[in-house]
Order: sequence, then structure tokens, then C-alpha cells
Amino acid sequence: MGGKLVVGNWKMNGGLVSNQNLLSALVDRLPEDVETAVCVPYPFLAQVSSLLSNTSIGLGAQNVSEYVEGAYTGEVSAAMLCEFGCRYVIVGHSERRTLFGESDSAVARKASAALASGLKPIVCIGETLAERDAGRVREVLERQLAALGEDALLAAGNGRLVIAYEPVWAIGTGRSALPEQVQDALACIRSWLASRVADARKAKVLYGGSVKQDSAAALFALPDSDGGLIGGASLSAAEFVSICEAAGAVSRSSDLGVKRSNG
Ligand code: PGA
Repeated sequence: MGGKLVVGNWKMNGGLVSNQNLLSALVDRLPEDVETAVCVPYPFLAQVSSLLSNTSIGLGAQNVSEYVEGAYTGEVSAAMLCEFGCRYVIVGHSERRTLFGESDSAVARKASAALASGLKPIVCIGETLAERDAGRVREVLERQLAALGEDALLAAGNGRLVIAYEPVWAIGTGRSALPEQVQDALACIRSWLASRVADARKAKVLYGGSVKQDSAAALFALPDSDGGLIGGASLSAAEFVSICEAAGAVSRSSDLGVKRSNG
């Protein structure tokens, strides 16, 4: 918990000109009290890194190799991402798990490789609709968390690894999970972490899946929410700014609440 984190996942979108337009409309418009970042396709890392230098917006990638270096054609290492100024990397997004066959154990190895280079992995977990309908949400989340291994869970406990709850059926469908469904899943993740690491309150747990400016405030205000991973809506400057502003407003009002309750 703590301040909110809002991360844009551009997926396989963008181009040199549209990136410049999008970022120039974001810089200086995102609230300073929200940690923000954009995760962009590999070829744009250099461009976006230079456009974001001297701004508070962090840079991330959308995937990373589990290997350190060598004969792995087409792979990109964590050290390379660091050289281009990345602070974050999305690991185990459901599109990578389903379309590119990434297993729980491959996701765990990628998260470890990212951590070893000092990157902050944003590890995505979440159930399919069939798994939800079968009442297996908790089981799936716990399996995906357990697969990460002890070091990654310790890193989650001290904020060096971020967990993103992304129900597969809510991604890119325009059908966000309902706030109560999200809260149940976030609480399940946090309580599972609490049984394994010293201070699970410090872990950052995000929600992602069709977050839009209209739904953002209610989702960010959930007791176990630390922010969001935003796909489609991060490609519109106006929409992404509104979503980040909603995160800032929620943090400020909860800070006020804490101050009031402390007298
Ligand atoms: P969406 O994507 O906001 O477009 O649903 C979220 C994600 O895939 O991270």
C-alpha cells in the first residue's frame, strides 16, 4: 500500500510520430503524487526514454528474457532494458501466457531475471472466465503466486515486485470486473502474501482489465488497491491523464482520512 501506481501498457501499438504526440500530451499533466509509467514496445525504448528524461513518468517494457545473454535469437535481456532506462517490466501478461505459451515457471524465471538486474517486475496473474465460473479464482491466483518462488514473494513484500490482478475475461473486452470482484481478488492476493512474507501491507497490488476514466476512481478506492495497469485507455492522453488524476484524488482523500482518524 502507500501511494498509487498507474502503469500504461501500450501493447503492440504506437509509432515514432504517435508516441511523440501522446507523450507530449502527458508530460507535465500527470499528478506528481501518483507514481506513473508507460510500458512500450522494445523498438521505442530509446525514443521514449529520451522523451521522458527529466520527467516523473517511468519507463517499462512488456516482456523480458529469462536468460542473461547469449544465443537466444529474438530475446531481450533485463540488462539491456536497464541500459535503456527501464524501471519496470511487465511479466506474465495473460496475452503472453495464452498466445505465446508462457508457463507459470517461465514467468517465475523472467521475474527472477528482472529482479536480478534491479528492474521492478509487474507480474500479471488472473483467472479465465471458465475458471471464474467454476469457482476457481482463489485456487488459480494462489497457484500463479506460489509458482513465483520465495525470493519473488519476498520482493513483493518489500515493494520490489508488483502484482497485477488481471482477470483474463476483463482484458481488452470493455467489461471491467466489478469493484467487489476486484476487491475480493486483491484481498485474496494480499492475505496469501501475508501468510508468507513479513509485511504484506507494503506489497503493491494493482488491478488491470478495461479500466477507463469512468471506472477508475471506484477501482482505485478499493481497500486493497494500489493502482492500475491500463491497456487501451493508456493510448489516449486525455483518458490516461484522467485515470491518473483519479488515482491522485483517491490517495489524497485517503491521506486526509488517515490524518482525521489520527486526530
Ligand atoms: P485493457 O488492458 O485495459 O485494454 O483491458 C489491460 C492490460 O492488458 O494490461
